[in-house]
Amino acid sequence: MILLPIFLYLLTVGVSAIKGPCFSFGGTAHIEFEPENFNISYSAHYKLEFRTVQENGILLYARGTHDYEVLYLFGGKLHYLIVNPTPWGAGGTSGDYFQSDEKVNNNTYFTVEIFRNRHNENSPQLTGNARLIQTGMTIKATQEEKHVHNIELRGLQIITPVYIGGDGAKTDTVIQEFEGEIRDIREKRNDLVFEYPSLNGGVPRCVATNHRRPQ
Ligand SMILES: *[C@@H]1O[C@H](CO)[C@@H](O)[C@H](O)[C@H]1NC(C)=O
Ligand SMILES: *[C@@H]1O[C@H](CO)[C@@H](O)[C@H](O)[C@H]1NC(C)=O
Repeated sequence: MILLPIFLYLLTVGVSAIKGPCFSFGGTAHIEFEPENFNISYSAHYKLEFRTVQENGILLYARGTHDYEVLYLFGGKLHYLIVNPTPWGAGGTSGDYFQSDEKVNNNTYFTVEIFRNRHNENSPQLTGNARLIQTGMTIKATQEEKHVHNIELRGLQIITPVYIGGDGAKTDTVIQEFEGEIRDIREKRNDLVFEYPSLNGGVPRCVATNHRRPQ
């Protein structure tokens, strides 16, 4: 039975190497994901790659009854906003907010990770109340930007679907639907690659630009 751990190891390496699809957004449509057994209520950790020249647009959006989170471009910079109103008043949190230092709309692929109520991977020795809980955003092209708060957003409740490339509302005239490419969309808490949209309002896959024509 010594082969089983090796097999499982190879399986894990193989699975994590699979890249998710690339979607090409035209600024008029979004896609939604609603995976089964997918819990993003209190904690979530998304990772995706995008490129765009757009100044203002929505990359990712999800909501609950009172709470919501949104990753968007405004003025060419990335913003991650979590709104978490506390009906019980003082002492609670009301959300969190992060903004990139640099503009990201220069048509280069950036990798962005956003996370809320994530257990700090660097402190597994801490348990219970001493456990470090983090919320933040990291952005990487050639250099990495890290924006992290050691904060717990209490009572956070957000459900699927996860909206990519828009929020489906079409009411905000400033923050529009996204125009550009988004690829390899993942959620690490549930260990899932977003592949098949549960709703697609007209967003095709990206056209590969750098492959050879068949002979
Ligand atoms: C989702 O996860 C939270 C903890 O993060 C847990 O309290 C809740 O019961 C879970 N919901 C479901 C439907 O499993
Ligand atoms: C776009 O901006 C990023 C980060 O500032 C930089 O690393 C990259 O080289 C830029 N790309 C181009 C084509 O200028």
